[in-house]
Amino acid sequence: MKAVIPAAGFGTRFLPLAKAIPKEMLPLGDRPVIHYVVAEAVAAGCDEILIILGRGKEAIPAYFTPNPELERHLEQTGKLRELAAVQELSRFGRIHYTYQAAMRGLGDAVKHAREFVGADPVFALLLGDTVMHGGSPLPPMVAAWGQHRLPSVALEECPAEKVARYGVAGGRQLAPDLFALDRLVEKPRPEEAPRLLDEGGAPLAFHAFAARYLLTPEIFTLLDQTQPGYGGEVQVTDAMERLRAQRGFLGVRWPGRRLDIGHPKGLLEAAHLFA
Ligand code: G1P
Repeated sequence: MKAVIPAAGFGTRFLPLAKAIPKEMLPLGDRPVIHYVVAEAVAAGCDEILIILGRGKEAIPAYFTPNPELERHLEQTGKLRELAAVQELSRFGRIHYTYQAAMRGLGDAVKHAREFVGADPVFALLLGDTVMHGGSPLPPMVAAWGQHRLPSVALEECPAEKVARYGVAGGRQLAPDLFALDRLVEKPRPEEAPRLLDEGGAPLAFHAFAARYLLTPEIFTLLDQTQPGYGGEVQVTDAMERLRAQRGFLGVRWPGRRLDIGHPKGLLEAAHLFA
């Protein structure tokens, strides 16, 4: 399976720092945030990765590009622990890069993966500014794909006062953590937000999209046909809603924590949890 990691955004909430340092390169311990995102994709069986960059994000490919001279130096000076840490990166397999020409939002960024995904039946989408604590939702999403051949999104419980910040899912329970979705809405007002229903039809708490998706390549045509939505940008969520209507869409409830490092408080919290 291939993985697509958008890492193009300006990093507005991290300005002025993000003028020079991509937010995805901020540290969690001795590794940058994007290291954990790539490692999560690789652990879930992704063998080829496309990172979608924006202007000024060159530190990301620099980080993943092998440096034989550095490795030789570490070997010759007996710094074997450091050598192993650097070599860990070469086990990530093939990483490709492309540039989003203009910052037109997530939907436009994802469109840049069309050729990379090619004729594959499904691909993983991992938002590059979000790390997962408490495991990854990708393994159960891959299992759900194996069983149902349907695209899916990871879902995290979300308090009512925060639904307007996220994509929100409505649907019906199929298994303890698996839902057949019937509505996907980007950043709804709480009074308009859909809900998941349990097997008996009783409403559960609100559930938001947790930055991990398994999508089928129809999404690219649907993105082409999608008009700008929330914030005047083409939203992946709106194309996903149309994919749901055509083909069906699953929600995989995940008990871990999604940590958005795109703002200082989120990064501090993630640094604390990953320490
Ligand atoms: C994006 C998605 C949204 C999702 C969120 C967190 O929003 O559009 O549906 O819930 O990531 O995964 P953003 O944070 O880019 O505004």
